[in-house]
Amino acid sequence: MFRRHRRLRKNPIIRDMVRETVLNPSDFIYPLFVVEGENIKEEISSLDNNYHYSIDRLPEAVKEIKDAGVKSVILFGIPDHKDEVATSAFEENGIIQKAVRKLKELDSELYVITDVCMCEYTSHGHCGILNGHEVDNDETLKYIAKIALSHAQAGADMVAPSDMMDGRVEAIRNILDENGFKNVAIMAYSAKYCSAFYGPFRDAADSAPKFGDRKGYQMDPANVREAMLEIEDDIKEGADIIMVKPALPYLDVVRLARDKFDLPVAAYNVSGEFAMVKAAAKAGLIDEKAIVKEMLTCIKRAGAGMIITYYALDICRWIKEDFK
Ligand code: PBG
Repeated sequence: MFRRHRRLRKNPIIRDMVRETVLNPSDFIYPLFVVEGENIKEEISSLDNNYHYSIDRLPEAVKEIKDAGVKSVILFGIPDHKDEVATSAFEENGIIQKAVRKLKELDSELYVITDVCMCEYTSHGHCGILNGHEVDNDETLKYIAKIALSHAQAGADMVAPSDMMDGRVEAIRNILDENGFKNVAIMAYSAKYCSAFYGPFRDAADSAPKFGDRKGYQMDPANVREAMLEIEDDIKEGADIIMVKPALPYLDVVRLARDKFDLPVAAYNVSGEFAMVKAAAKAGLIDEKAIVKEMLTCIKRAGAGMIITYYALDICRWIKEDFK
């Protein structure tokens, strides 16, 4: 006798009852881009319906985020000056530091995560301090730690190093603890691949490397065992949350990380993944809402407890509609 699987698919009620993965607004983290200047709310040409905000226009961003039901953001900054050592990344009045203070003033309950990296702030566009054409790992650690500390001092709840230097989680944990920021959490971009899917983000953040590529520090897309080593080390160094990035082509990595480790796992549904869906939707080739729901459900099903996505506001609105 065969099993009648279709009994449990008979109508929406029973389908809802047996559903294994359900999206909640608290699953999503919204990437927010802040720029220097005044009165700026400008759509990002490579990321439809996402905006560059100047500090004075952040009240509108916060209202939209709150209205959508999103509880947490990850901040990216576009500074007005760049140099070899990314000074604008750790200044007290750098763009991120000002934005964190402003967001906390506008809504102390908004959970503020900061991306800790140097590529938006260096004149050469690499994620660290150069020694010739190489990024010097250990020299970079000092700067990464300083950047993270400055974010904590501004009031960030969590820092997220995305530079892929070895030892950065330990360097950040140490400097935060030494300065009384024991409760500032670290979400490590642990398995961050050297991916072509970051293209639209690099346009949005003006962070493309001026020469070469990031293959010397970001991971080879072909490797998965190495990802487990990266994650293991970040956990040993004190990460609170581990991340896999990008998401969709790397769901095997997400699943393995979920099965192997007990820390919360995040996935970053990156700019290229977003842009492909947008382009196909605009061309009338797919049903955007249905695709986005499916895609995000599948990232969660693969094992990600939290998802960073440029669709965060939309998906939270759509979830609310579904429950009406
Ligand atoms: C900074 C950083 C990048 C992204 C997040 N943090 C770009 C990169 O590594 O080149 C990419 C995010 C996206 O594509 O959505 N290093």
